[in-house]
Amino acid sequence: MDKLRIAGGKRLVGSIPIGGAKNAALPLMCASLLTDEVLTLRHVPRLADIDTMTHLLQQHGVTITLLGANGRSNGQKNGGVTVKLQADDIASTTAPYDLVRKMRASVLVLGPLVARHGQARVSLPGGCAIGTRPIDLHLKGLQALGAEIELEGGYVSARAPHGLVGARVVFPTVSVGATENLLMAATLARGSTVLVNAAREPEITDLAQCLVAMGAGIEGVGTDEITIHGVERLHAADHAIVPDRIEAGTYAIAAAITGGDVELLGVDLPLIEAPARVLAEAGVAVTATEKGVRVAAGNRRPTGVDVMTEPFPGFPTDLQAQMMALMTVAEGAAMITETIFENRFMHVPELCRMGANINVHGASAMVRGVPALTGAPVMATDLRASVSLVLAGLAARGETMVNRIYHLDRGYERLEDKLAACGAAVERVRG
Ligand code: UD1
Repeated sequence: MDKLRIAGGKRLVGSIPIGGAKNAALPLMCASLLTDEVLTLRHVPRLADIDTMTHLLQQHGVTITLLGANGRSNGQKNGGVTVKLQADDIASTTAPYDLVRKMRASVLVLGPLVARHGQARVSLPGGCAIGTRPIDLHLKGLQALGAEIELEGGYVSARAPHGLVGARVVFPTVSVGATENLLMAATLARGSTVLVNAAREPEITDLAQCLVAMGAGIEGVGTDEITIHGVERLHAADHAIVPDRIEAGTYAIAAAITGGDVELLGVDLPLIEAPARVLAEAGVAVTATEKGVRVAAGNRRPTGVDVMTEPFPGFPTDLQAQMMALMTVAEGAAMITETIFENRFMHVPELCRMGANINVHGASAMVRGVPALTGAPVMATDLRASVSLVLAGLAARGETMVNRIYHLDRGYERLEDKLAACGAAVERVRG
């Protein structure tokens, strides 16, 4: 298994291109199931999760063509590829366990398949490293639209032989995935659907904009009440994926933790407003530039800032581990509270092995800043926890070896290249 070796203590200076958002690309790829015409997606990041989704959709019968690297309209190379997806013939409506267990987002095929094909069978994703993460909200929502749901042999079967029917769906808690599944399903339902307490993440806005380009009738995009007027069929569209705010936030924190000065290319400041606000409070200058966002840390330690994760526009749970890494070396203390997922503090013991002072009490972690971390062999069991250890390693004295980096490859395209281009001493050790 590959590892990442980091010699800490190098200031990051330079620019980093930000790719298309993984969490937008995954539902957008599933949206191809809603039409027999070609859906063209630009800036699709090259990541293991995208490969998993590609395999899943191919076995459903989607023809997928990669068109090679492309650049953003402002001329910045952001990596990524253009992908053409065509679901002219659905070969199978079953999403098998082997693929779903690799990636929870596989459950996003459920809504589109049942909406277009009247039935779908999707393996239950099962437990997960960051809590139990059920899919009950997805299923209740589809039931409200008239689907018959059965659970059998570890699979969810959804059937709507006469089509879905628009309804009012009130989500008791905000769920990104359930909002996306229902948004897609409702585009082909008879009549109108209202999603109340819908998630407002930019990736949902991106999905809605693509669905509108495919011919869907959607109002209230970007608010917590989305109305979808069902149409008979959707058609071809060409869509550029929104930049990855979590990748951008991660590199912003990388700049901050190394006392660096980095320009994040291709991302707009409003996309990372909540993390930018925390960085600013910590004493890091975050400013909009012509090409993106500049993050410049002064010549002193950051100040401890309390952080609580919340649905968008609040502070994202997917940046909690990274921000905690920064707070381990802050002047003063920081209380970090995780409200979205239970059990999302797996990075804590590993950060402590590097010299951090963190005490967890339920959903909160009290981080007392130390002057410096020391390098150590570490590993983590999920994507964002793993990258938080990379950030800690960039700031630590001595060498850090991050094991099990296949988690990183699920969500960060060419992580070591992007960091190395800004002066980090980081290399992949094949194994
Ligand atoms: C998405 C993101 C993930 C991010 C998360 C929260 C993708 C592919 N993944 O995950 O990176 O961390 O949003 O911003 O976009 N819940 C239920 N029942 C359900 C669904 C969710 O109880 O049916 C709970 C979850 O256990 C969790 C909370 O709702 O506690 C939020 O989860 P959700 O927003 O659905 O996360 P995902 O869509 O899985």
